[in-house]
Amino acid sequence: MKSLALLHASQLVTLAGPKRPRVGKELSELGIIRDGGMLIRDGKIDIVGKSDEIEKKSKDAEILDLGGRVALPGFVDAHTHLVFGGNRLEDFERRARGETYEQLAKAGGGIWSTVERTRAASEDELLKRAKKHAEWFLKCGTTTVEAKSGYGLTLDDELKILRVMQQLNRETPLEIVPTFLGAHAVPRDASPDEYVDLVINKILPRVAKEKLAEFCDVFCERGYFDVEQSRKIFTAARKLGLKLRGHVDQLTNSGGAKLMADLGATTADHLEKTDEQGIAALKAANVQPVLLPGSVYALGSTSYPRAREMIEAGLAVVLATDFNPGSSPTPSMPMILSLACTQMKMSPAEAITAATINAAYSLNRGDKIGSLEPGKLANFSVFDCEDYRELAYWFGISQTHAVYARGENVVRF
Ligand code: NIG
Ligand code: FE
Repeated sequence: MKSLALLHASQLVTLAGPKRPRVGKELSELGIIRDGGMLIRDGKIDIVGKSDEIEKKSKDAEILDLGGRVALPGFVDAHTHLVFGGNRLEDFERRARGETYEQLAKAGGGIWSTVERTRAASEDELLKRAKKHAEWFLKCGTTTVEAKSGYGLTLDDELKILRVMQQLNRETPLEIVPTFLGAHAVPRDASPDEYVDLVINKILPRVAKEKLAEFCDVFCERGYFDVEQSRKIFTAARKLGLKLRGHVDQLTNSGGAKLMADLGATTADHLEKTDEQGIAALKAANVQPVLLPGSVYALGSTSYPRAREMIEAGLAVVLATDFNPGSSPTPSMPMILSLACTQMKMSPAEAITAATINAAYSLNRGDKIGSLEPGKLANFSVFDCEDYRELAYWFGISQTHAVYARGENVVRF
């Protein structure tokens, strides 16, 4: 591969810093280089610095003039449900008329209706749809996503979804980190305990044996899986070598944050209803909170998680889209940055750190992605603005100019 020299970013937002997730004041330190540039060789970052220094060292390189735009690491989206069939337009319309997420689930909508459509779709159909979603993520400046199964709820259907992710990883430039979320809902024809047994004894061992997932997740919530059922599944998954992330305290404060802390999980996600005890438990166990304001917004709620308290407690906060057809139909990290600033009172710098380097660490990839530093993959996005704060400020309009994954131009506007 040829080398590529990027020159004249008004701000090269490097996120260079300690080799660990950022906390407290570090969340505001973006390592910005004005009139910055980078030399890229073989898909990796070789040198980062001022444009004039880079230019001197890039005699043989192809030059890419960024024309005073902002460049930052490709966003890392640490919580998505990327593979599913159909949509949830009926739920969307009924919620607009006042019904709640839980009411719709009881009335035959909700996760279950997406399970039916996902089961009915062939692997090829799901892959075709998933490719479209992957393209959306790339266009928003995201180069890595975590993706969960969870719309199959049988051995074969869960494996089908995980295989689609594997295929997607091979066939698109978006990097997919797979998570097994077999316990996303209880199937109609089983009792909760029967299904927990199936997940533990049949599905999880196959997923682990075929190396189809790096993480295991459970929807721990009233009407889904309680704390004890969730603990059983997580404990079995951990024994099989999977790391843990959990949907907890989204609709009710059920002690989910404390559970994730007890288990030594990698992340606890949602946390809309988590209180100060839950926050303290996460801190004591060094669990990263993954905040999903897109789902609060799209469900028409105002119960945003307590991001400021989490930052003040010293937690390495992550932001993600929660892209899914029911509660958060957006692949856009810039939209999430906007919500984080306007609704959760995070600063634009804190939000960007949470959506890049901290997210990368939450996916065990902090040494490869999430910042623009020598040795890391050349995953970066260029936006049509001069100041990084514009990413969170303008909303409802795409500012993406170009996206690169492993040094290859994958989106050009
Ligand atoms: O993260 N809460 C559980 N899972 C998803 C919603 C999935 C769906 O409604 O299809 C979430 O919000
Ligand atoms: Fe989710």
